[in-house]
Amino acid sequence: MNIAVITGASAGLGYEYVKEVIAQYPDLDEYWLIARRAERLEAVKEQYPDKKIVPVCLDLTNERSFEEYSRLLRASSPVIRILVNNAGFGKLGKLADMPYEEQIRMVDLNNKALTAITTISLPYMQRGCFVVNVCSIAAFAPNPRMTVYCSTKAYVLSFSRSLRFELKDKGINVLAACPGPMRTEFLALAGIEKGSSKTFDTLPYCDPHKVAERSLKRAAQGKGVYTPRAFFKFYRFIAKYLPHELVMYLSQT
Ligand SMILES: NC(=O)c1ccc[n+]([C@@H]2O[C@H](COP(=O)([O-])OP(=O)(O)OC[C@H]3O[C@@H](n4cnc5c(N)ncnc54)[C@H](OP(=O)(O)O)[C@@H]3O)[C@@H](O)[C@H]2O)c1
Repeated sequence: MNIAVITGASAGLGYEYVKEVIAQYPDLDEYWLIARRAERLEAVKEQYPDKKIVPVCLDLTNERSFEEYSRLLRASSPVIRILVNNAGFGKLGKLADMPYEEQIRMVDLNNKALTAITTISLPYMQRGCFVVNVCSIAAFAPNPRMTVYCSTKAYVLSFSRSLRFELKDKGINVLAACPGPMRTEFLALAGIEKGSSKTFDTLPYCDPHKVAERSLKRAAQGKGVYTPRAFFKFYRFIAKYLPHELVMYLSQT
């Protein structure tokens, strides 16, 4: 049985991944959609009556979710052709002004869950399968007022590159998708609204549909990193070559 697994599939970019995975890989036996809001996952399922959509309602900040995910895989022994680690969130604000629980939850979802889901999934992947880890332009350099978020995304980028190297011999690709801002629920949850950040007010925005479509294609082609839009490709370039003190000054959120 061939399946795709998509985390954070109930909204935003994750929902775009659901649509694109189904469009690009219509012959998979099952599509496993992970998120907390069961009603949203059920609504997605109803949109595809001719596909086997499997809503998997899990809170990925809860470690028990990893046991449940392992159990589901053991029970059906599928081949995971595509794994999209997309669930994640950010918060705008200085570290000292935010409760530590919020910071830890960010690390738990953006890093701990992504690491656990990937590790648990790998025994079910084989040559030709691939992983898309949703990262961010925030991975390219530190961003004051998003200190924990950009650190979690730097982890995702490093994790993805290193794992890609480890899995080369097995023919399994790992791609880090690094979009800039997108108009999804992410912004309100992060406390980003008009006037709260000059950078977010002036940056160009990415189209989540294109991000999903193109990152899946790049991952299948064996690429390691996907950054949409020339503007953010340029940012990635300068973040690599300029001192980070200067990059932080220029890109302050
Ligand atoms: N939007 C942006 O500006 C932007 C820019 C760069 C990168 N990104 C990255 O893109 C990814 C998707 O973000 P988005 O913009 O699509 O945000 P979103 O619209 O808020 O969607 C987040 C998804 O993650 C799920 N999720 C949140 N907490 C979860 C938990 N504890 N357990 C399981 N699932 C959980 C949510 O579903 P439930 O609430 O139903 O659980 C939802 O499906 C994230 O990794 C984010 O860091 C976003």
